[in-house]
Amino acid sequence: MDHILVTGSLGQLGSELVPALQVKYGRIGVIATDNHPPAGDDYPGQFHLLDVLNKAAIQETIEKYQITQIYHLAAILSANAEKNPALAWRINMDGLLNVLEIAREAGISKVFWPSSIAVFGPDSPKTHTPQNTLMNPNTIYGITKVAGEKLCAYYNEKFDMDIRSLRYPGLVGYKSLPGGGTTDYAVEIYHQAARSGSFTCPLAENTALPMMYMPDAVRATLELMAADKKSLCVKTSYNLAGISFAPKEIYAAIVRHCPDFMIAYSPDFRQQIAASWPDSIDDSAAQKDWNGKWRTISKG
Ligand code: NAD
Ligand code: SER
Repeated sequence: MDHILVTGSLGQLGSELVPALQVKYGRIGVIATDNHPPAGDDYPGQFHLLDVLNKAAIQETIEKYQITQIYHLAAILSANAEKNPALAWRINMDGLLNVLEIAREAGISKVFWPSSIAVFGPDSPKTHTPQNTLMNPNTIYGITKVAGEKLCAYYNEKFDMDIRSLRYPGLVGYKSLPGGGTTDYAVEIYHQAARSGSFTCPLAENTALPMMYMPDAVRATLELMAADKKSLCVKTSYNLAGISFAPKEIYAAIVRHCPDFMIAYSPDFRQQIAASWPDSIDDSAAQKDWNGKWRTISKG
């Protein structure tokens, strides 16, 4: 029986991935962890405090719960990372190295680690950005994701491990709040429309970015993890595509339902990050290798 460890489980992705994993493995089979406790007393499942910088604590948790798979989600996202690059490097890189080393030593059968469209940079093709192309990010977050991808590929090859990864686009869902990314505006705008009737957008109105509806991202993750290892040719991380839109398009969509909703554009440091990322993504490698059908909802 599989026992799943999820790090950074209280974040935007973990809040929706953990329930999906619980459906598959049962509440008893999923150990959700984070470096702070959940809000409220009633966490729906097993929760354990765990800082990914504490290697001994990860080791202990893995032994205690007889973990067989790890979903390593803990990270500092792009906008927060720019505010504290040294901390971002520590959590994103030392945390990943801790998890990979422990997984190797413990013979953990599978690891999932998310990468991002942030691996691409200003000199990558802007539209339908291919799986393999120039990857010269100019953000510390993107640099940790490129380095993380290389580290995962190294462990896969050198130690014959099974670490799988997706380059998520900006994730958009209504069940959880985002945690300091550049694409967060696409979630916050809905909350502000409902709460205050106005929104100040940190990106310029025409800044298109690749995005994905959270249930599609969760489904893609579970499908990738269930795929036959032999069919997975990409040892770094798979491009993943949903939809692409700019702030003015999401505003127009909301105004159709809330005619009084107002938007002001006040681009800040996040504009420069967004401008360095692709407008849209080519995920044909993922479609070919594991026949993902995750786009049904995003395209619908
Ligand atoms: P998030 O910021 O919402 O959640 C990250 C979680 O990590 C938080 O709950 C935080 O408390 C935890 N964390 C931070 N430092 C930690 C530490 N030292 N030990 C343990 N936990 C720690 O981020 P998310 O959106 O849930 O992202 C999850 C993963 O997916 C990250 O690797 C991120 O880079 C990747 N990703 C997310 C998006 C997106 O749009 N949300 C897009 C691409 C990739
Ligand atoms: N959505 C993430 C961010 O904006 C991209 O990985 O940081």
